[in-house]
Amino acid sequence: MAKLFEPYTIRNLTLKNRIAMAPMCMYSSDKEDGKVEDWHRVHYGSRAVGQSGLIILEATAVQPQGRISAQDLGIWDDAHIEGLTELTRLIKQHGTAAGIQLAHAGRKATVDGDIQAPSAIAFSDEYKTPVAMSKEEITETVNAFAVAANRAADAGFDLLELHGAHGYLINEFLSPLSNHRIDEYGGSAENRYRFLREIIDAVRDTWEGPLFVRISAEDYTEGGMTSEQYVEMAKWMKDQGVDLIDVSSGAVVPAKINPFPGYQVPYSETIRTGAEIATGAVGLITSGLQAEEILGNDRADLILIGRELLRDAYWPYQAARELHTEIESPVQYGRAWTF
Ligand SMILES: Cc1cc2nc3c(=O)[nH]c(=O)nc-3n(C[C@H](O)[C@H](O)[C@H](O)COP(=O)(O)O)c2cc1C
Repeated sequence: MAKLFEPYTIRNLTLKNRIAMAPMCMYSSDKEDGKVEDWHRVHYGSRAVGQSGLIILEATAVQPQGRISAQDLGIWDDAHIEGLTELTRLIKQHGTAAGIQLAHAGRKATVDGDIQAPSAIAFSDEYKTPVAMSKEEITETVNAFAVAANRAADAGFDLLELHGAHGYLINEFLSPLSNHRIDEYGGSAENRYRFLREIIDAVRDTWEGPLFVRISAEDYTEGGMTSEQYVEMAKWMKDQGVDLIDVSSGAVVPAKINPFPGYQVPYSETIRTGAEIATGAVGLITSGLQAEEILGNDRADLILIGRELLRDAYWPYQAARELHTEIESPVQYGRAWTF
């Protein structure tokens, strides 16, 4: 059997295959209250019918001022639990595991009012200048991640991912390009990691299930982070009980990136080998054969599919045909496979 369709166990959770839907913002909480709407129900439900082994829900804000846009999904209030519970029910009834990406947009938030970041440096001219966070605000935000993790557990999620990539708040602390602090949260790698360390510890206090962290393994800018530098941080994450690093790249500062198929896979490989931790590969992976090459050559443990799953909710069937593997389908669709 193709490795892509082998079950994959992380702690107490067994995924039916190694295909994960990458977190993708839908900006569809139309009432601007962070709540689940019909769009989310149909969108995530379809990908579960489509046989993805894991769906990681889009960046979901742990605090209202940490939203990328006013239409982001939220998990900052108990009132969000009901809608999210409906999503986990819709996803899990098809044998797909339900994950959620806990997020704070930091200096990339575009909501009204003050926005926060490690340092008062705007991302670009098109963004607001953030307010540098006080230690009290850092502690409040760490707590917000922990409370959000509890709400995710109440809503029935199987897996959590912390959004430490793409220039959002956690990433802003990790990279020296956006973190110019001179206190214990800035300077050395250990100091820049402190914010994420506190979040992981706070979440791990109560969350016993699988925990992923998404990182931007390359800043594509002189003086920024590289995948080699992330090996050290990945080792710290592993020691703290993180199960898998979801290896993305870029967007902490405006930098030119020339993407091509599998362009982030080498970063996954570097971190997987260097830190001896499981990784997820993501970025322009669009065919079953390409996914199988990555897994077969031990370059990653999980394949995250983003835009290809927007184009085709049933992509896993196509990949299975390509890899000559038969996979289950809902009984309602059984006749699709007979003549
Ligand atoms: C519409 C859209 C929304 C996205 N939102 C998120 C997000 O919420 N969190 C995140 O970590 N990445 C987000 N991404 C990045 C994807 O998860 C993925 O890493 C990226 O699209 C590259 O993979 P792909 O080539 O398979 O699409 C988004 C991408 C798209 C296209």
